[in-house]
Amino acid sequence: MVSKTIPVQPFDLVVFGATGDLAKRKIIPALFRRFIAGQIPDVSRILGISRQELSSKEYSVMVVDFIKEFVPANVYDQNDVVKFCKMITFLSVDLKSDKGWKELEKFFDSNSNQIRTFYLSISPSLIDSCSKKLNDYALITANTRVVVEKPLGTDLPSAKMLNDTLRRVFNEKQIFRIDHYLGKETVQNLMALRFANVLLEPLWNNNYIDHVQITVAETGDVNGRGEYYEDVGAMRDMVQNHLMQLLCLIAMEPPAHFDADDIRNEKLKVIRAIQPVDVKDTVRGQYVDGDNSFKSHVNNINSKTESFVALKAHISNWRWAGVPFYLRTGKGMSKKVSEIVIEFKPLAHSIFPDLGENYQNKLVIRLQPEEGMTLHIGVKEPGPGGMRLINAPLDMTFAQLSGQVEAIEAYERLIMDTCRGDQTLFMRGDELEAAWSWIDNIMSDWNKSNNVPIDYNIGTNGPAEAAELLTRDGRSWQ
Ligand code: BG6
Repeated sequence: MVSKTIPVQPFDLVVFGATGDLAKRKIIPALFRRFIAGQIPDVSRILGISRQELSSKEYSVMVVDFIKEFVPANVYDQNDVVKFCKMITFLSVDLKSDKGWKELEKFFDSNSNQIRTFYLSISPSLIDSCSKKLNDYALITANTRVVVEKPLGTDLPSAKMLNDTLRRVFNEKQIFRIDHYLGKETVQNLMALRFANVLLEPLWNNNYIDHVQITVAETGDVNGRGEYYEDVGAMRDMVQNHLMQLLCLIAMEPPAHFDADDIRNEKLKVIRAIQPVDVKDTVRGQYVDGDNSFKSHVNNINSKTESFVALKAHISNWRWAGVPFYLRTGKGMSKKVSEIVIEFKPLAHSIFPDLGENYQNKLVIRLQPEEGMTLHIGVKEPGPGGMRLINAPLDMTFAQLSGQVEAIEAYERLIMDTCRGDQTLFMRGDELEAAWSWIDNIMSDWNKSNNVPIDYNIGTNGPAEAAELLTRDGRSWQ
């Protein structure tokens, strides 16, 4: 299979926070990889901005280090790095004063119609002053886009405030809110699976589906991000965005067109239809491991922040009434795995006792590792000896399907989409607010009921109560 890399139009990309962690780990490596893939015309310009006093040459040296650390050496050669660095310049700009803004104005003088993307990889507290300055210096053109990253608020009021701040100077079509889960290959395939095939859609409802499980488990702890994590916890860090987006893509109605707003309208309807969750249908956990516990990582022996959450949600609409969606995510777990399990209802009448009376087909959609899908079906065991049935996995790994085509990372796809102006894989403001509104209710109920996280040992599947959430319904986690 041949890769179809379609170059984007030349652009000017301005990265605010160009020396920060995200630029280092994700933004610069993603741009470099797309450049060597031939997707970025070399007349494009990448301008790094931070408060530090650096020359463009000094910043380029940093960029080379970012590439060396975060792009595998076997995918590029030195010439590529040299060519890439020719697109890079750097400016020292202060977001709270006028220092550097005139120079930024001059940077655009010669190129006023080119696509212009401002990537605000900065603390949320600076977004207001940064967007005001962009407006004051008349740097926002019709061809401008702005990219913002998590945390997109910490609750509904702060998310509204962020949306208001952005909308004062940009229109919604210019705002790209990143949830990197939407850039993952399998997430796009989820839409292909559902809406490009006749096979599953007739079964995709409460007549045939027993329940859905969404798991995003990580083995790593919060070490290094303790301060941030202590404030947010797993609910805000993962459920409000990544798990919610996965749930939406599974549950939404088919959009009329594959178009950003059609898709986001359908996702919004799902979020608005999710019922408030009862505290007894939630489990919060916090990992412990002697001195290596969550409390020590966040530097707070009294921490009541969760590093694990599991919950049962219901969607009140015709398609999903009565089908529980079990969600769980955590740090310090036994395996790193992100997957969705669709468990179908048992056969109405089983004539093959080998499979068990309540045999259920299962579709497992893996986001990582080994992106792909597995359909568990009953088949005859090969060979002689009568009719014996077994459960067999029909496996499809996307890497095999793509053959020679190199996997593309979420950030590569998402940054190229901002250049194309395609908002399909980005959250709209109303979606963001609806998701916060649902999360806020749960968190406020936790507070009211003095709910505290239950300890679980690092390297396990979270607290036993998370397993009970399903066993009491006669089910179990995949
Ligand atoms: C981020 C969270 O959004 O997603 C992190 O802030 C988490 O806490 C990460 O580790 C997980 O992303 P991935 O792509 O590794 O599953």
